[in-house]
Amino acid sequence: MEIFLKDIAKYKDQTVTIKGWVFNLRSSGKIIFLQIRDGSGFIQAVANQSELAAEKWEQVKKITIESSISVTGQVIAHPKQIGVYELQVKNLQIVQIAKEWPIGKKEHGPEFLLDHRHLWLRSQKQWAIQRVRNSVINAIYEYLNNNGFIKIDAPILTPTSCEGTTTLFAVPYFDLGSAYLSQSGQLYIEAAIFSHGRVFDFGPVFRAEKSKTRRHLTEFWMMDAEAAFVEHEENMKIQEELISFVVNKVLTDNLFELNILERDLEPLKKIKPPFVRMTHAEAVKKLQSLGSDIKPGEDLGGDDETLLTKDSPVPIFVEKWPKSIKAFYMRRDPNNPEVVLGADLIAPEGFGEVIGGSERETDYEVLVKRMQEEKLPLEPFQWYLDLRQYGSVPHSGFGIGLERLVGWMCGTHHIRETIPFPRMINRLTP
Ligand code: 4AD
Ligand code: MG
Repeated sequence: MEIFLKDIAKYKDQTVTIKGWVFNLRSSGKIIFLQIRDGSGFIQAVANQSELAAEKWEQVKKITIESSISVTGQVIAHPKQIGVYELQVKNLQIVQIAKEWPIGKKEHGPEFLLDHRHLWLRSQKQWAIQRVRNSVINAIYEYLNNNGFIKIDAPILTPTSCEGTTTLFAVPYFDLGSAYLSQSGQLYIEAAIFSHGRVFDFGPVFRAEKSKTRRHLTEFWMMDAEAAFVEHEENMKIQEELISFVVNKVLTDNLFELNILERDLEPLKKIKPPFVRMTHAEAVKKLQSLGSDIKPGEDLGGDDETLLTKDSPVPIFVEKWPKSIKAFYMRRDPNNPEVVLGADLIAPEGFGEVIGGSERETDYEVLVKRMQEEKLPLEPFQWYLDLRQYGSVPHSGFGIGLERLVGWMCGTHHIRETIPFPRMINRLTP
């Protein structure tokens, strides 16, 4: 019977067939040990010369690393390790003998591995990261679907910016001049709340920023959520619940993967609401007391984000930012019009900002004034301004950077490993 390795425990002592790849092997003369992967799991198959026809044994001896095979054998429980099985090979077909595998003979630098990303994806750690990414995506969908949000797909080709004009990728667009690759679907899903109340999008976004940090990609995946009649406080509540749900889901479903990644589980187990809240002004003070040279009114750098959460087991919402360093659409604090009702969520353990969000400006005139201050052209945003004239309501939303969140879950130092094919300033291939 043909099975997937994830189901192996159900077939103890039975004879099964597995189709996959040999990711490692060693020989002790009359026995060859094959480490096999089928995509769903891993197993050691033991090929014994005395139990195979001579011509089969000759074939087994030809197997190289990453050769593809179909192997039939008996499932044997490991004598000591619970839940571990081995396959006693009875028959084996070679699908293809792989040429010499370029990865793994010696230590490789990151550029070598990234040049071979199409092959590197098969390594066990990279396999584990993509499994966690899949869980994180599904957990986000699950939470939002269970909490009244529906998915609304935002366009990728747009006539305007969402997060600032200096970081846009332009593409020629027929007779209409330039289109820009979306930086965030937010403005579009804001339109959809007037139809559906609570909505989200989830897709690739693009930033032409010249940041070469371990937290920046030029193409990454974002989930933007937006909700009508939700104000700043409730916006943060939704975020802390959602993040706690995702962490709990990963801790429940991905222990095998987290173990491969040698992820310390203790910090993740502490992620429960409420998260810490502090204003930007308070964060600056705290950072200064910890030795940062940040000044009042300045944005937090990557090192500041790491420093700020150093002693905090839970993430920190930094809220009420100076309006001059945040986007035009953020609502001003009625108690202090110099700051906006926006919050960045900073993950612990040095994983940095994972969410940016805010209550939105609802007043037509104020919004126009903010856009003029930012020197944004009004005409392409007229549709967005319209939303403030037909049943405008208080509303809020936020955007999660998927790769930052996955990096945090996996304990991955650089987020380039959390996306299958990373795009960075100096990398467009493979
Ligand atoms: O903070 P940002 O720029 O917020 C927005 O785009 C809002 N329109 C979202 C909203 O309110 N709907 O981006 C959101 C998140 C950041 O917190 C970060 O996690 C991630 O996206 N992010 C990046 N991830 C990887 N590479 C980059 N260059 C990123 N820039 C932002
Ligand atoms: Mg941000």
